[in-house]
Amino acid sequence: MIQLENISKQYKTANGSLTAVDQVDLSIRDKEIFGIIGYSGAGKSTMIRLLNGLEKPTSGKVTVNDVIISEASGKALRNARHDISMVFQHFNILWSRTVEENIAFPLEIAGVKKAERQKRVLELIQLVGLEGREKAYPSQLSGGQKQRVGIARALANNPKVLLCDEATSALDPETTDAILDLLVNINEKLGLTIVLITHEMHVIRKICHRVAVMEKGKVVEQGDVLDVFQNPQAPITKRFVSQISDSGTQKDSIAQMVAEYNQGKLIKLFFVGAQAEQPVITELIRTFAVDVNIVHGNISPTKSGPYGTLIVQLTGADQDLSDAIAYLNEKGIKSEVVSDVD
Ligand SMILES: Nc1ncnc2c1ncn2[C@@H]1O[C@H](COP(=O)(O)OP(=O)(O)OP(=O)(O)O)[C@@H](O)[C@H]1O
Ligand SMILES: [Mg+2]
Repeated sequence: MIQLENISKQYKTANGSLTAVDQVDLSIRDKEIFGIIGYSGAGKSTMIRLLNGLEKPTSGKVTVNDVIISEASGKALRNARHDISMVFQHFNILWSRTVEENIAFPLEIAGVKKAERQKRVLELIQLVGLEGREKAYPSQLSGGQKQRVGIARALANNPKVLLCDEATSALDPETTDAILDLLVNINEKLGLTIVLITHEMHVIRKICHRVAVMEKGKVVEQGDVLDVFQNPQAPITKRFVSQISDSGTQKDSIAQMVAEYNQGKLIKLFFVGAQAEQPVITELIRTFAVDVNIVHGNISPTKSGPYGTLIVQLTGADQDLSDAIAYLNEKGIKSEVVSDVD
């Protein structure tokens, strides 16, 4: 477990003292994927560096796997760091070494014998999906492949915790997804705790179990990803959540839908967690004398079930329409009438 207790970090700058992390309390469970999201300058990188002792807090206590990192130094800190690895936005690889030499590097430093090293490098190459690229130099690799090398290096000495500082921020959306899939795979296969920093809600949505939102050094909100998505409290969290839920349903596109689907009722359904959208719609059509026309959908999977909205056009007699809506509400699906034109 990782625990931050009343952590503050101040830097001395030419203009006086700057508070990068401000009275943060946080606990991260073993084997979970924990996301920290915030805009630039929020204090995310500072916070993650406190977790591996690269920075010492000005006040407060950091504990990782029962070791008080904030107080450890010398050999004790080096030992604790063996269990805490890090992946960076710009890959942190050695340009003069091939893929396999890069991955072998942390093993050489740890004094692992050659035969064992070769065996481990092979395993890691397979784990991160770099078969066939063993002899390539970093300049011959794509961004996604470079990050796979970075991840393999970070995993070489079997850490218990993997810290990822914007590990996908330099990658295009498709490559980002592939690297996120790899992180999930590693989390499940190796039972690794992953702490991941990002400014993209998509990343949180796709792979995190829980999330903390940072603003100006403070954690302004934290919780299960679905709870935070469903019921964001802080204004900044609402802004992040709208990054994924409102895309494509901005005001003018809604006006366009209302004009186009001008019969019956246009209804926005909110899916959060357990219910899957398809069976519910199928049941609705079977049970009630209504027609359902799907107009717009924006539902994405999260670690704890689907999240998103579906805009549907319902047509039928008034009584049937109200029965159908009551049925949806009973199923725990919130609904909102977008238009009511007859
Ligand atoms: N070594 C340092 N000395 C002085 N100030 C620092 C230092 N490191 C970070 N800061 C300041 O602390 C604040 C938080 O920085 P940090 O790098 O943690 O933010 P971040 O959330 O990671 O931002 P980004 O998304 O841009 O990476 C910033 O105002 C930054 O200028
Ligand atoms: Mg940063």
